[in-house]
Amino acid sequence: MVTASAPGKVILFGEHAVVYGEPAIAAAIDKRIFVSVEERSNESIEISSTHELRDGYPYVKAAAEITFEYLGSRRGLDISIDAEFPPASGLGSSAAVSVATILATASLLGGEIGKKDLAQLGHQVEKRVQGAASITDSSVTTFGGVLFIKPRLEVAEKITTGSLPLVVGYTGVGGSTKEVVKNVGVLRDSYPEVVDPIIHTIGQVTLAAKKVLQEEGDIGGLMNINHGLLEALGVGTERLSQYVYAARKAGAFGAKITGAGGGGCMVAYVPQNQEGVAGAISDLGGLALVAGIEEEGVRIER
Ligand code: MEV
Repeated sequence: MVTASAPGKVILFGEHAVVYGEPAIAAAIDKRIFVSVEERSNESIEISSTHELRDGYPYVKAAAEITFEYLGSRRGLDISIDAEFPPASGLGSSAAVSVATILATASLLGGEIGKKDLAQLGHQVEKRVQGAASITDSSVTTFGGVLFIKPRLEVAEKITTGSLPLVVGYTGVGGSTKEVVKNVGVLRDSYPEVVDPIIHTIGQVTLAAKKVLQEEGDIGGLMNINHGLLEALGVGTERLSQYVYAARKAGAFGAKITGAGGGGCMVAYVPQNQEGVAGAISDLGGLALVAGIEEEGVRIER
């Protein structure tokens, strides 16, 4: 049996705008998904999980298939999944489970696979299942750390930052990324002269945030601006806003939706009093995760 694990992620800046070519900043968080792979005596792929993963594990199946295509060999597999964060919550579980499945499967089959190829194959899995995806989630879960994503060039650069104490609040409602991305597209088609400048401005916020992060400054104000712009794109929900405002009131320097929205998660930057901010989100019925940055991406567990 081989076990691989990969971290979840938060998008700190630039979700949705990244789909239209603007840069984004995403960070791996210290919560991982574990995928164990064992050979079976027959050709089938059997998958089990400690968490419910929506729709019959499409990412895990596509990841195994893409690995077989890459290596030019195929086996029956028993795949089991364990997660330290809720799947389908906007924390990058799809990319993490895909990349960990690829690494574990390749390793079981004796194939060599470098990180660059892992990230590319993970991106292929997301595109095959979702129809469209940026390189954000697959890059972050592969490489770890804080990444500046340049989607037009399909390049992800590591940024060196100071410590980034975060609190993530999950609404318990898994938003469908595909659906929410589609809705933003419809809004953009209806009012391009209004929506394109919003998307461009999100890109400007991301560029400003990159500089602040590199200077180890306070990104809170820029997160709050980004939240307002995501609201303008219609991806907010009442509950997400409640958590965002509660987090700010409890001392977060900034808070915003993270990921696709429409449910899912918010993230707060909390240099002081992480427990207090987590408590404020829990008091509203949210699942609060105190999180930090994970420097290590996908890896084989020994
Ligand atoms: C989802 O985590 C982030 C989006 O920008 C979609 C994507 O980048 O593929 C909404």
